[in-house]
Amino acid sequence: MHVFLLLCVGTLAAAPITPKKAESAAPLSPAQKADYAQVIQPLFDAHCVSCHGPKKEKGKLRLDSLEATLKGGKNPTFTLGRPNSSMLLARVFLERGAGDVMPPKAERPLTEKQKEALYTFIEGQPIPADLAKAANADTQAALAAAKAAAPANPPLRK
Ligand code: HEC
Repeated sequence: MHVFLLLCVGTLAAAPITPKKAESAAPLSPAQKADYAQVIQPLFDAHCVSCHGPKKEKGKLRLDSLEATLKGGKNPTFTLGRPNSSMLLARVFLERGAGDVMPPKAERPLTEKQKEALYTFIEGQPIPADLAKAANADTQAALAAAKAAAPANPPLRK
């Protein structure tokens, strides 16, 4: 307690005017963690983890857990509350024809609802329930399409 007080006083006295450096990421609230687990991680699992996960780590980036996502790859992914300086968001929102778009051109693109949910989350806002539902429906549709294209478990022979 004493040390804490001293540190506060010391900081105030030493640098009242100096602008803050890029603030370190604030911890996520329980509601933000729930949004991540219920909407964002499933979206990453369906659209990103094949290249950004345990098997491949393109751009040294993994998106298969909250911890890995926040850690970033060669570059930072995002800071909650600062959507306009997020490299991850920028690449997701590029035109589909752009060379840097994510997921890459040949892959199934994210839908508007999925992108909106991602933007809202990175903005640091709660994802409204109807948006969460619509984004999750699109994620499920993408998973179903992928499964139909390449069945993970071929049917057993009778
Ligand atoms: C088919 C493979 C593939 C998929 C699927 C894919 N990516 Fe990528 N991604 C790459 C490759 C390759 C790179 C590295 C080269 C580059 O930066 O363009 C990369 C790089 C990135 C980077 C930059 C990493 C850094 O720190 O420089 C981000 C951010 C990113 N991807 C986000 C995503 C997101 C979000 C998704 C899903 C919505 C996704 N990617 C899906 C292949 C993929």
